[in-house]
Amino acid sequence: MKTDVTQVMVEEHRLILRMIALVEQNTARVERGEFRDWRFFLDAVDFIREYADRFHHAKEEDVLFTALVKNGMPEKQSPIEAMLMEHDAGRAHVRGMEAAARRALEGDESEIPALLEHARGYAELLRGHIDKEDTILYPLSERVLPQDVRPAMLEAYRAAEARAPELAETYRRMVERYEKETTR
Ligand SMILES: [Fe+2]
Ligand SMILES: [Fe+2]
Repeated sequence: MKTDVTQVMVEEHRLILRMIALVEQNTARVERGEFRDWRFFLDAVDFIREYADRFHHAKEEDVLFTALVKNGMPEKQSPIEAMLMEHDAGRAHVRGMEAAARRALEGDESEIPALLEHARGYAELLRGHIDKEDTILYPLSERVLPQDVRPAMLEAYRAAEARAPELAETYRRMVERYEKETTR
């Protein structure tokens, strides 16, 4: 039995998907004229940047994908390249979301369509991205990575977690708080 190196990543996806569901619900509520809390979208940007990107995507890019490349997966024209391009495309949506949410918060309503477009674009992109990782890339990783590289990978995940000890808990609480508000 090999040491599992993707279950922890699948669990992080679950929290990211909960935030994506909130982004989708609140985007729909804005369109129905029921929601104008632009701060939510800035909090979503903060969650995505810190938790999804600096924490989770950094683990993928620095540990998991690196291990795959070292163990024979091509870097170019490969699932790795596709995943990295999607991480970048997500970052572009997040920049768009942030700029538009800031303008909306200042009272500039003309930016709301751009805000909704980037919010929906991000949600759709990341849902597809997570699905590909959960069903294709992670299972493939579990098949191809040799046992002898796995303990060091878990060690590197733990080091990333230790660099930001409160982060996972802080963002879990943020998601729970907005879930309570959204279902009220
Ligand atoms: Fe990813
Ligand atoms: Fe991921």
